[in-house]
Amino acid sequence: MHPVSLEDFTKKYKVLIENRLREAVGSLDTPENLAKSMLYSLEAGGKRIRPLLLLAVVNSFGKDPEQGLDAAAAIEMVHTYSLIHDDLPSMDDDDLRRGKPTNHKVFGEATAILAGDALLTLSFQMLAGMSEETAPSQVKLALIKGLSYAAGATGMVGGQVADMEGESRQLTLEQLEYIHVNKTGKLLEYSILAGAEIAGATQEQKEILSKFAYHIGLAFQIRDDILDLEGTEEMIGKPVGSDTENEKSTYPALLGLDGAKEALDYHIRSAKDSLASMGIEVTILSQITDLIGLRKN
Ligand code: IPE
Ligand code: IPE
Ligand code: MG
Ligand code: MG
Ligand code: MG
Repeated sequence: MHPVSLEDFTKKYKVLIENRLREAVGSLDTPENLAKSMLYSLEAGGKRIRPLLLLAVVNSFGKDPEQGLDAAAAIEMVHTYSLIHDDLPSMDDDDLRRGKPTNHKVFGEATAILAGDALLTLSFQMLAGMSEETAPSQVKLALIKGLSYAAGATGMVGGQVADMEGESRQLTLEQLEYIHVNKTGKLLEYSILAGAEIAGATQEQKEILSKFAYHIGLAFQIRDDILDLEGTEEMIGKPVGSDTENEKSTYPALLGLDGAKEALDYHIRSAKDSLASMGIEVTILSQITDLIGLRKN
């Protein structure tokens, strides 16, 4: 029986995702300290929203979510690598992540950089190693190609560079949207489209999911910007006021707190409108969308 609430779904699949992450790093023939550093950040916690989204999409198409577990682990590896690098002194220079000291605080900068590199590379190894029944060659290729676009210069890395270049500057809303869509939105979009690929969605369904992803990607980062101002360190597990300190371009900085909240509501509503036009079982995806709008960490 398929779980019908996000709570049940999360309870069931978070464990499986975390086991897969642990197994993947545990089986590597690599220096012990590198494996420790990779595991430290992977196991520090985290909402696992990207892997859960991927599995929820597979589930929405009536397929077994376990088919998506390797791809789900791969996306969490890329995301965790992006966080390790994002926190480095040369980037956001933050000391706390997922409620624990950041990777470079524990392992030193050089190992933190290399743990990030290793997680990124391991993610592609995960995809390439998917079984033929779960992902026939054509699907596998699409998954690998999609992740390379979403993670690299045309996605997350490109967005992080634009984010850095936007420090201490007044950007237009269009420029700010570019940053958010790329640094955060592309990996979320990939999670959704990878699920669709594995489930065998039609081109039309992928296009609607892409629109849904655009809105939740923006909503997710706008909420993150708001939490940087309104959250507490205990709640969000990372320092508050990091954006202000680094003079980041954020939605609240550009539109004010109320303006940012209006933009968040707009994108949550638009995401739900896209879902409603799908014609598939979307209960859990709809609950994830609500959570993105209201999340407290
Ligand atoms: C934080 O992502 C970085 C952003 C892209 C905003 P998450 O809020 O998903 O962080 P974890 O994985 O739960 O720690
Ligand atoms: C980072 O955005 C997005 C990434 C690609 C990691 P932030 O710098 O706002 O993320 P947090 O607030 O440190 O998690
Ligand atoms: Mg950052
Ligand atoms: Mg940061
Ligand atoms: Mg932030």
